[in-house]
Amino acid sequence: MTSYSTTMDLDVDALSAEQASEELARLATVLAEANTDYHTEDAPTLSDAEYDRLKRRNAAIEARFAELKRPDSPSDQVGAPVASGFGKITHDVRMLSLGNAFSDEDVAEFDVSIRKYLGLASDAALTYTAEPKIDGLSLSLRYEKGVLVQAATRGDGAVGEDVTQNARTVSDIPHTLTGAPDLLEVRGEVYMSHADFEALNARQTERGGKVFANPRNAAAGSLRQLDAEITRARPLRFFAYAWGSLSEPLSDTQSGAIDALAKLGFSTNPLTEKCDGPDAMVAHYARIAELRPDLGYDIDGVVYKVDDLALQSRLGFRSTTPRWAIAHKFPAELAWTRLEGIDIQVGRTGALSPVARLAPVTVGGVVVSNATLHNEDYIKGVDSKGEEIRGGKDIRVGDLVQVYRAGDVIPKVADVDIAKRPENATAFIFPHQCPECGSDAVREEGDAVRRCSGGMICPAQAVEKLKHFVSRAAFDIDGMGAKQVEQFYADGWIAEPADIFTLQARYGSGIQQLKNREGWGEKSANALFAAIEAKRTIPLARLIFGLGIRHVGEASANMIALHYGTWAALSEAMDAARAQEGAAWDDLISIDGMGAIMAGSLVGAFAQEAERASITRLVEGLEITEAVRADTSGSPVAGKTVVFTGTLEKMTRAEAKARAERLGAKVSGSVSAKTDLLVAGPGAGSKAKKAAELGIETLDEDGWIKLIAGL
Ligand code: IVH
Repeated sequence: MTSYSTTMDLDVDALSAEQASEELARLATVLAEANTDYHTEDAPTLSDAEYDRLKRRNAAIEARFAELKRPDSPSDQVGAPVASGFGKITHDVRMLSLGNAFSDEDVAEFDVSIRKYLGLASDAALTYTAEPKIDGLSLSLRYEKGVLVQAATRGDGAVGEDVTQNARTVSDIPHTLTGAPDLLEVRGEVYMSHADFEALNARQTERGGKVFANPRNAAAGSLRQLDAEITRARPLRFFAYAWGSLSEPLSDTQSGAIDALAKLGFSTNPLTEKCDGPDAMVAHYARIAELRPDLGYDIDGVVYKVDDLALQSRLGFRSTTPRWAIAHKFPAELAWTRLEGIDIQVGRTGALSPVARLAPVTVGGVVVSNATLHNEDYIKGVDSKGEEIRGGKDIRVGDLVQVYRAGDVIPKVADVDIAKRPENATAFIFPHQCPECGSDAVREEGDAVRRCSGGMICPAQAVEKLKHFVSRAAFDIDGMGAKQVEQFYADGWIAEPADIFTLQARYGSGIQQLKNREGWGEKSANALFAAIEAKRTIPLARLIFGLGIRHVGEASANMIALHYGTWAALSEAMDAARAQEGAAWDDLISIDGMGAIMAGSLVGAFAQEAERASITRLVEGLEITEAVRADTSGSPVAGKTVVFTGTLEKMTRAEAKARAERLGAKVSGSVSAKTDLLVAGPGAGSKAKKAAELGIETLDEDGWIKLIAGL
């Protein structure tokens, strides 16, 4: 992990020379690591937007402190050194990168700088080409006398990897050319379509192989296979957009050269267009951006190039980028795509959740084809209070929708462009019947969610409940995860939690049957039965949580278990509280942290006939261990608020916290007037100071250990 210093937060203008030098060193390391992750490992660790931002910051510091520019400056680097395992090829003509534009103003500035460099008046004619920037990896193909003799990746721009055998397996790459110059190096982008990417990942998942984060990584990982037969099985494509060494020119214009490559049999991008200035360029950019969701492959911007090759040659190159071209990048992390459908998923508690099925689109480096639509109000354009969101615009199938991803969270549909709404799009009708079991789906007052009333007769709820039951914080049955639950449920082996504990009795002698299933052998079948047996004895809290009762989470299950102690006491109390009034009910809602909603849900689960019967069948096969409240009567810290600070040398923080809580203390992260005791290890800083100011009792670690000794 790279260490971050505070200079990273300072404005470039505010940096001293010393800080600038420190920051340039940091950026060189961070960007070099990011380059390796992206180019050599095919596993990006920085988003494109963040990478671009850091590169711009580096360039801005170098512009202010030219004398501090480092010999390993990221401004002079293209890509990363080649990975081992492939032969190396030195490019005759360096394979360069492109400068970036992020706004219409940057594009106008690009035009101004070119005119300035060439001494052209602002109204002199100057034609550019504009074409999609394909998000793949660049490849140089060398043809001698019309025969493909060599293919090389970009590598660090000067030396690339020899992937000749692999390139020959790509159907878009011709093995021979007719009418080509004697020497022709064609350059372009290898990429994978969305459809092929999805199919590849599905196959990989099935085989337990590597699943790729996005089509670019899939293309890179597929081309850079040491075994060309693996590349052959991966559907790669290639767009030609440039050239390297040539024995004779293809044309005197960029557009003419691209036409010539198309005539030679290469795929060239159909959205390439000639533009007579920045206005036309950004207009074409907008058009490409609009078409992006429907292209079927990833693009991350639009590349503008000066059309006249004589002017290109006059303009030449900076250290790593041509002066005659620039990439106008699309903004990151947000993407527009088509809403192809709305599916309704039914969860463990019967909640009907609308899921957007999207035309696949890359958002922040990951292909997104599903996103949440939250609930029926969200689709309508209102929030839980009935107030308008998105200006009241509803979302319809066929709409162009904006998808966003923040960090690792589930992608969400953020906005809709109703100007682009297809004429026949109709308002979405949220189902009032469960799509899985046909039971009524009802929405109670104050609940944003519509729920299936089918309970365990609903297969979706049943499967989700079973998955929850075997999950880590519940019964935690080794070897029984979501996949196995789905398999057993589909085959009719288990329909409710109780069935898990009769599985061996019903099918155990039939390990044979289990063995015949995919993924199972005698050993794993026996291990599963042993894992189930091991959980026949279960702590009360785990059982309560495992039942999957709405609103009853892990912490609540613990509280409930501690309050009632035994299963018998709990079930008796639930029966007595059924009417939601009286002593048993009052006792239930007196539990610290228990509200009427959770209490109602708990009592309801025991009152509902089918659910109660299912719980009874389960409990009959279990040994439930009592929940014992720790006796904190002799504890000197019971009911006190304790803060730990500094380094603890004899135990971890987590351990100290758990111990204190077991002794009835409340552990807090900050010192305040409410703090009773501070335990300060070496290196304690502001918290110790504050505690001293507030006159709070403070102990060192040994003092703490002595205090709780023997408890
Ligand atoms: S022209 C001298 N055109 O973008 C530079 N590059 O960020 C010649 N790329 O290394 C490159 N689509 O891998 C060009 N239509 C396009 C492109 C394109 C994608 C890639 C290429 C390049 C990178 C720069």
